[in-house]
Amino acid sequence: MSRHTPTFVCQNCGAVFGRWQGKCGSCGAWNTIAEETSSTPVTAGPGKPYRKGRPLVLHPLAGTADDAPRTPSGLAELDRVTGGGFVRGSVLLVGGDPGIGKSTLLIQAAAAIARAGHRAVYISGEEAVAQVRLRAERLGLAQAAVELAAETAVEDIVATLSESMTPRLVVVDSIQTMWTDQIESAPGTVSQVRGAAQLLIRYAKRSGAAVILVGHVTKDGQIAGPRVVEHMVDAVLSFEGEGSHLFRILRAVKNRFGPTDEIGVFEMTSGGLQEVANPSALFLSQRDLGAPGTAVFAGIEGTRPLLVEMQALVAPTLLGTPRRAVVGWDQNRLAMVLAVLEAHCGVRLSGHDVYLNVAGGLRIQEPAADLAAAAALVSSLANAPLPSDAVYFGEISLSGMVRPVAQTAARLKEAAKLGFNRAFVPDMARSEARDAGMALTSIGPLVDIVGAIAPKGMERRDASGAGKE
Ligand code: TYD
Ligand code: MG
Repeated sequence: MSRHTPTFVCQNCGAVFGRWQGKCGSCGAWNTIAEETSSTPVTAGPGKPYRKGRPLVLHPLAGTADDAPRTPSGLAELDRVTGGGFVRGSVLLVGGDPGIGKSTLLIQAAAAIARAGHRAVYISGEEAVAQVRLRAERLGLAQAAVELAAETAVEDIVATLSESMTPRLVVVDSIQTMWTDQIESAPGTVSQVRGAAQLLIRYAKRSGAAVILVGHVTKDGQIAGPRVVEHMVDAVLSFEGEGSHLFRILRAVKNRFGPTDEIGVFEMTSGGLQEVANPSALFLSQRDLGAPGTAVFAGIEGTRPLLVEMQALVAPTLLGTPRRAVVGWDQNRLAMVLAVLEAHCGVRLSGHDVYLNVAGGLRIQEPAADLAAAAALVSSLANAPLPSDAVYFGEISLSGMVRPVAQTAARLKEAAKLGFNRAFVPDMARSEARDAGMALTSIGPLVDIVGAIAPKGMERRDASGAGKE
């Protein structure tokens, strides 16, 4: 293919097409395909002869493996997610919605690295140096020896960084604004993002600096998502949170040097992002005690127990098809729990809308949340509040039984620490849970918990609901 043949690249998923089309055949997105010239920067041009390969030294699998050399950032929640600090020569992508606090987090990290006596460089492609300074001043970091530049040309950036002592940390904010001479497309297109990332990755591997790339994720996929560089980098962190909540959660999506199930919790304050060492207390701080439809789930995020409230609202439906809406949990798991409640517990929900929400903007992935979700749903349907000092956990199987989950003792210990006295646990977890200092109710078949919450059955809410219709 000649160097100037136009190619059409989906700005959402990076698929390449020979001609323009309205819908991407690969990811199904509409109107995301844009014309881009030139192919990838590393291929030899048409005139260039192929380089003769140089033989490599092959190594045996056995041998001493040094632990990856790390530079801790000093922000404990960030280090928890990266697995103990930034690895030398690695590239990390931090993705998130615009305005979530990525720049704030990374200027704080850069300042912490600089304070520890290492060289930290912050390259902003979005803000002028004065703007970055202003933010640092507001955060009380103006005295930290972070070196700043407002630049978007990757070649110039790499040349500057290569000139003097290798920095420990380089923050590039954001990868979408960067561009390289080698590619003719506009900045922000898939080819540019990929080409610029490639150069920065090569710089990191060669020099041993840890490079952090910031990537905006837009929901409509109009701007080239950082998804196209996800497979090129060593770790991908996603910074999440609801705009209206002040909690921000940093989650590892991919990590070549550490775990991917840890989360870091921050709170956005007027003085920047503050680490939250005890997230359970924070997530439970605004509970509606005594309201039906809320259950406290004793969960585990990575190695850390985390208590969070699950809220359900079950209301008679006014439409032909009942609505099922869920925020912070898996839609399919909700469907499964509802099916088990219908099939094995005699709880009829087909005439009801069901809403389920995880309080505080957290997203739960554990199946252990099944029991808490079921308890919240039954509590809302029966209009019967759950005991406010109880926690719930357990996985529900399709046969209607509650199955044990990992780390029972850690969950109960955290709950006891926060003043809970009772726990509804899977039957088989009993022995593990015995000396937690809590009143335990073990649940074998799920129908037991329905009986415990609504001993008189579900008629009350159903009848009043039917009257309203
Ligand atoms: P920012 O880091 O610029 O977001 P991103 O780089 O992800 O686009 O953060 C922007 C938001 O953070 C903005 O809405 C204001 C808020 N903020 C605070 O609440 N406190 C602070 O100390 C700072 C610096 C920002
Ligand atoms: Mg920013």
